[in-house]
Amino acid sequence: MAAKKIMVSGVQPTHKLTLGNYLGAIKNWVKLQNEYECYFFSVDLHAITSRQDPKELGENTLFALATYLAAGIDLEHATIFVQSHVRQHAELAWVLNCFCYMGELGRMTQFKDKSSRVGETIPVGLFTYPALMASDILLYQTELVPVGADQKQHLELTRDIAIRMNNLYGPLFKVPEPYIPKVGARIMDLQSPENKMSKSVSTEMGAVFLSDSAKEIEKKFKRAVTDSGTEISYSDEKAGIKNLIDIQSAITGKTAEEIVASYQGKLYGHLKVDTANIVIQELKPLQERTQQFLSDKGELQRILRLGADKAAAKAEATLKNVYRAIGFVPY
Ligand code: TRP
Repeated sequence: MAAKKIMVSGVQPTHKLTLGNYLGAIKNWVKLQNEYECYFFSVDLHAITSRQDPKELGENTLFALATYLAAGIDLEHATIFVQSHVRQHAELAWVLNCFCYMGELGRMTQFKDKSSRVGETIPVGLFTYPALMASDILLYQTELVPVGADQKQHLELTRDIAIRMNNLYGPLFKVPEPYIPKVGARIMDLQSPENKMSKSVSTEMGAVFLSDSAKEIEKKFKRAVTDSGTEISYSDEKAGIKNLIDIQSAITGKTAEEIVASYQGKLYGHLKVDTANIVIQELKPLQERTQQFLSDKGELQRILRLGADKAAAKAEATLKNVYRAIGFVPY
């Protein structure tokens, strides 16, 4: 039997995971996991590119991994772990930093957006962030990387770095492909539907967190920003309405057209309340299972340690090759 292809993805624990993370990423991982050898992690090294409260960072990291398990990530197919537990990520990132260019990092739109807002005090880590992400991916000889559309540019950079180093030193890395799911890839902020939900977290009201109660979820959907129209239709001009339809579609599997058809003659308020209820029903069992995993910290620690050991063994093989190729004296 041919070896399974490798799939890698991660989510930042900068806050409690959101509905956007769940529908855009984790739910797809669960669907794809049987076909691949998977590595899923919580990227705490990436998270510190913006200032984090230490206590919350730890809590959010465990919450994320408990959610992966609760969502149905199966340890037979997937290795789950905390990024900082596998030191090879930071080590290879340093090497890759030396093989990517200021010019190409400076062209990353995510960096440009953030630096235009923050200015001179922007952490250097935000600039070199894509080199760390490339390390996450290239360490595992990854073929497929499921990510949101906003990460496509980072994936392209990862491919460029892999090809560059392979040309210099021979085949060190597999060149990965992005996988951008059609449905759910862009769940937008409820208060500013031009921005992706998980990224902006502009206001507490804009993002549905997986830790939110049913009451909070209902309130957030009721207050979702829409437009001054009345007719429910699916178009870019109605970003708020489109987002609610996308959320329903990602959960129920219905197409946008089917959903629009079912709202003939109905009001925005109906769509908001229904979407809230669909989300609440979808999240309830997930939230209960997440709490179960979180309530047994010893077991969670054990799973994460096993995951990190397994990931490190795989990552070390790549890192060793790289060190040898660039001329580092073997240890
Ligand atoms: N940068 C990704 C995001 O913000 C998270 C991430 C870090 C990632 N490393 C990764 C995703 C490796 C896929 C593979 O969404």
